[in-house]
Amino acid sequence: MNLTGPENAGSPGGPTSPERWKWAEVKVLISTEDLQARIGELAVAITADYRSLRPVLVCVLKGAVFFLADLARKLPFDLEMEFMAVSSYGQSSESSGVVRILKDLDTDIEGRHVLIVEDIIDSGFTLQYLTRSLRTRNPASLEVVTLLSKTARREADLVCRYTGFEIPDKFVVGYGLDYQERYRNLPYIGVVEGIG
Ligand code: PRP
Repeated sequence: MNLTGPENAGSPGGPTSPERWKWAEVKVLISTEDLQARIGELAVAITADYRSLRPVLVCVLKGAVFFLADLARKLPFDLEMEFMAVSSYGQSSESSGVVRILKDLDTDIEGRHVLIVEDIIDSGFTLQYLTRSLRTRNPASLEVVTLLSKTARREADLVCRYTGFEIPDKFVVGYGLDYQERYRNLPYIGVVEGIG
């Protein structure tokens, strides 16, 4: 097995070549330190609102995994975590408006305070679909926290209670966000040259 790291990748190759996965190509947009500081601020606001409500945090896979993990560990009160997988992009870098539930909640949310945890809102179609779908299950409340928001790209009508960062209309990767399943494990939010 060849475990050569991306920094040692060979000469340029096709789209699946390790050459396409050079960390050096990723320009930092939001540093690890800035991410953690802002998540700390969001946690303070969420704690003030939810401390006594034992909310259900619904993580939208896969992109929101690191955000959920870091946010939840900064929330010093009783809560539950659930996971949903919703596909909106497939292999394209553009939102199609077509949303599919790939994995549903494992629990009944009727009468519960639900907080959807998203990594990014772009067109807003994913969350519009998700909030409509979850609302039919009669939660006591339903709100959204997103780490990133591209307000300039919004097409769907939706309300997001907590937003980490408003970002420009660039294709971003890292901290859970991917380009064709790559870059999710970068510890910061970055922009890859030549994508988007
Ligand atoms: C991304 C992101 C959001 C959605 C936002 O998910 O995580 O869920 O797109 O786009 P929208 O506002 O235009 O609907 P994606 O479908 O890429 O799945 P992933 O999280 O598994 O990468």
